[in-house]
Amino acid sequence: MSLIFHSLILLVLCYTLHKLRQAHLLLFDLRDQSHQDNTGLFRQLEALQGLYVELDLKASLPPTRGWAASPDFLLELARHARAARPGVVVECSSGTSTLVLARCMQLNGAGKVYSLEHDPHYAAQTRQQLRRHGLQDWAEVLDAALRPHTLAGENWPWYDLSALPSGLGIDLLVIDGPPQATRALARYPAGPLLFLHLNPGAQIFLDDAGRDDEQAIVARWRQEFPLLAHATRVCEKGCAVLTKPT
Ligand SMILES: C[S@@+](CC[C@H](N)C(=O)[O-])C[C@H]1O[C@@H](n2cnc3c(N)ncnc32)[C@H](O)[C@@H]1O
Repeated sequence: MSLIFHSLILLVLCYTLHKLRQAHLLLFDLRDQSHQDNTGLFRQLEALQGLYVELDLKASLPPTRGWAASPDFLLELARHARAARPGVVVECSSGTSTLVLARCMQLNGAGKVYSLEHDPHYAAQTRQQLRRHGLQDWAEVLDAALRPHTLAGENWPWYDLSALPSGLGIDLLVIDGPPQATRALARYPAGPLLFLHLNPGAQIFLDDAGRDDEQAIVARWRQEFPLLAHATRVCEKGCAVLTKPT
């Protein structure tokens, strides 16, 4: 009887110790996670502050992160646009990035942003924000519904390019759309449909390059356009930069 009793006590003790150890490990995981989150958040705040200072903005930007580009990606764009002074910027998807790029054109005193937007609601929203910032002369949001494009025998819903002025030579191409839910490798068509319009020395910035889908897209572009140099920048959602040789 006493043996059974003692065995039971031992069993309960072992179980309690096991649970305690699990709770202990979970606590360490939570502490590491919270440290990582804080570090990431601080980096985004620093980048956002950097954007406001470097662009000397007179009005606040719409929200960043989430659906919009993150501050670190926007800062990469702004620094490139200020240093390289691109004449023609084409952007796949409009929003906060359009304002940042348009402000760079204004500060440079030259250049124009053409932003392809498939959703009329967000197109109107970006135009309104451009007016609010006094940037309407530096960026044009083009209504570009997603229409079927046939590429390598496959159907790709991607922007209608008919609104894009013909004969454009692109100096900077920023790819942050269409949304991932459109289809697998949703942003791939930018390669076969826009890369042929790139000027020598032009650069391509791809947002969300940390995702599996975007990594597969970059791999495919590099296979199809082997002359493009490839680099990455440290950004929370990932940033791939491809450069056409001069
Ligand atoms: C990744 S977002 C574009 C972000 C844009 N480049 C920026 O920095 O704000 C891609 C598309 O999502 C759509 N979109 C933007 N904000 C959205 C929201 N809050 N909810 C759903 N769709 C949104 C727009 O049509 C946009 O072209």
